[in-house]
Amino acid sequence: MRDGQIYAGGAPALPGILPLLAEGLVFQAGGRRLIDIERLRIAAGGTTIVLGPNGAGKSLLLRLLHGLIAPDAGRLAWAGRPADAATRKLQAMVFQRPVLLRRSVAANIDYALKAHGEPRAERAARVAQALEHGGLAGMARQPARTLSGGEQQRLALVRALAVEPAVLFLDEPTASLDPAATAAIERLVSEAARNGTKIIMVTHDIGQARRLGDEVVFLHRGRVVEHSDATAFFQDPGSREARAFIAGELVL
Ligand SMILES: Nc1ncnc2c1ncn2[C@@H]1O[C@H](COP(=O)(O)OP(=O)(O)O)[C@@H](O)[C@H]1O
Ligand SMILES: [Mg+2]
Repeated sequence: MRDGQIYAGGAPALPGILPLLAEGLVFQAGGRRLIDIERLRIAAGGTTIVLGPNGAGKSLLLRLLHGLIAPDAGRLAWAGRPADAATRKLQAMVFQRPVLLRRSVAANIDYALKAHGEPRAERAARVAQALEHGGLAGMARQPARTLSGGEQQRLALVRALAVEPAVLFLDEPTASLDPAATAAIERLVSEAARNGTKIIMVTHDIGQARRLGDEVVFLHRGRVVEHSDATAFFQDPGSREARAFIAGELVL
């Protein structure tokens, strides 16, 4: 795993917002504890994969960490401080199904930059850069919703990266894509990680976890069953649930 300072998309070093520490984190609904995490510490550097079977609570955990939903108990700290406007500004998230505006491809990126507070004078160049980055330059003026599934997800991803987040949350971004479109997304994600963006990515795809992960948080029934280096996790999983999951058995 790589360590050290956080860089946002190759920009100058920013004050770090990592590690992210969750303590006593509980989220419940219908009388069930859907998330119940004593302690989870996610450090700067490397790609963290949140892995686990369907219904384990992966999406809920990601939404809690990103602050989209509030926990019923427990707290989060970014570099020792509660989440605030500054920590939120340094995070972005991409979902399984791209959430695009009914506007052109270029306007989707411009809107995100504007919402992030980027000065108008800089936006056109950054939109062009993001389009290029996603291989979407030829589609700039096309309505975003006319793109293929893979192109839409590339757009969602380069739009998220355009604001130069220190932390990028990804919730199964390739779950609805074919292998070629998946490979394109994985290339962009690896590149962002190499440039210093902290990636926290949910997947239930073991192959993807192996390809991209530096460390694995294995979730089962809302609890962190394992948190380890990816190589160690795949070679010698410490829990029955993780062993079964890696072996391709049905883990309920
Ligand atoms: N808002 C909610 N209210 C009630 N139950 C929910 C809510 N969101 C998710 N769940 C349930 O919580 C469990 C975990 O959901 P989720 O985080 O989506 O799992 P995963 O992403 O690992 O497949 C599932 O049983 C799901 O049905
Ligand atoms: Mg999910």
